[in-house]
Amino acid sequence: MYDQGTFDGLPYDPAEYDPRSPQVKQNIEAHFAALRQHCPVHHHVFSEAEQKEINENPFVAGPTTDLYSFLKHSDVERILQNPDEFLSIEGAGPERMTPVEGTGMLVWSDGDPHRRSRKICLPAFSPKNIAPLAPMLQVRIDDLIDGFAHKGAIDLMEEFALPVTSSMIAHLIGLPIERSPEILEWGQAIIGTFGGDDESYQKGLWSLGKIGEFLAEVGPDRARRLAEGEELFDAVTHVLTSTDENGSRFTPQEAVVAVSQFLGAGIESSATAMCNGIYLLCTNPDERRKLADNPKLIGTAVEEILRFMAPIEGTCRTAAEDTEVAGTRLRKGQKIRPVYASANMDADVFDNPRQFRVDRERAELSKHMTFGKGVHSCLGAALARRELALGISTLLRRLPDLALDPTKQPTRNPIFLVHGFDYLPVRWDPAGVLPRAEDPAATAKGTLAESR
Ligand code: HEM
Repeated sequence: MYDQGTFDGLPYDPAEYDPRSPQVKQNIEAHFAALRQHCPVHHHVFSEAEQKEINENPFVAGPTTDLYSFLKHSDVERILQNPDEFLSIEGAGPERMTPVEGTGMLVWSDGDPHRRSRKICLPAFSPKNIAPLAPMLQVRIDDLIDGFAHKGAIDLMEEFALPVTSSMIAHLIGLPIERSPEILEWGQAIIGTFGGDDESYQKGLWSLGKIGEFLAEVGPDRARRLAEGEELFDAVTHVLTSTDENGSRFTPQEAVVAVSQFLGAGIESSATAMCNGIYLLCTNPDERRKLADNPKLIGTAVEEILRFMAPIEGTCRTAAEDTEVAGTRLRKGQKIRPVYASANMDADVFDNPRQFRVDRERAELSKHMTFGKGVHSCLGAALARRELALGISTLLRRLPDLALDPTKQPTRNPIFLVHGFDYLPVRWDPAGVLPRAEDPAATAKGTLAESR
């Protein structure tokens, strides 16, 4: 069935590609390159042990035995652009999750219930709503750098990336920065539920309870302030007050589910992108120099980082009916996976795709699949781009000699959905740290204006 190819000069047998293997993930880009060439539609039958692991999740509705991964850009696009044929209702992972449609759910829902949730959530991510977040984010980024500057070495993920992205989400939902560690804990508990055991499931429920308590606490205050004519921009106010086409609002339970997705989708993904970006700039010194010489390139640099190392490897769909993609027959109920991280490296779409270039053409970059495509495309994309532009440009400006720590080894995240680093040791000379800019609002505005 498979065409035997080569893998770094050695024969490559695609049958050895196990999409869930943490070992495979250590060298995933090379696997994707070989697969795109020799086996662009990859069929993996889960071993008994894998099936046990996947199907024992307390949310699972029915067993999964195998998975098709689609590696080519055109196939990924075809799947994402046909949401009635390829459903999201059974979740983003290989497991067949119990449908939770009509509960404020976005990412695991289809059709009208998805449209309704999306319509109500969309205003929370409008440019007007997210613009005020940039100056606070700039302050937070500078505070974090001031806090660790003297150390000369940190794990970038733990001490910078996660604190930045959890602060952003805290602010998005109208909580003070001081509560961002709590937000991080709630967000990690939500993610841990998927593919997790009973303990993680209980922790996820605990997190939903915490979000429910928070909404019950702030809801009346927001309603009163709005009634008094105050203009409020936080996402929680929007989620509690926006309506669908028929004028109906989320119930309190729906609002909890919606907000939980902002936490689940918005913290680790952006933090992974931040670490991926710093890794790529540290390992491509010519491109880093180009960016230092011309800070206006930050926008295309961020987009190239997102293309080159998509933090979400791919999210699964379920075939609604018997169908065919790229000559492969799929039966109704088959779990399939469009692989964004591979589509972004497809030489049919991107010029010399394995070359990292901070000044790649915008028109070309706009074709990357990192935020998905179509009806489920990422609601937080503009937010993520801002975090990355401000975080990366400030870090490299203030710690000009920042480098990967040669005494330690970065590690890749072993989680199926994630593509990138979960531990990134970096170091610098504390004597060379530059002071923060005086006006955070002007700095953020300048960087973001340049990033367009
Ligand atoms: C670099 C960071 C991020 C990446 C790579 C990313 C990636 C994605 C992808 C690929 C999807 C589509 C999933 C699918 O079609 O199955 C998605 C959906 C989504 N993202 Fe993001 N995301 C990021 C940041 C954020 C942030 C900061 C938020 C906001 C809080 C967010 C909120 C969402 C939501 C709510 C959805 C579901 C949309 C729907 O189903 O209609 N994401 N994201």
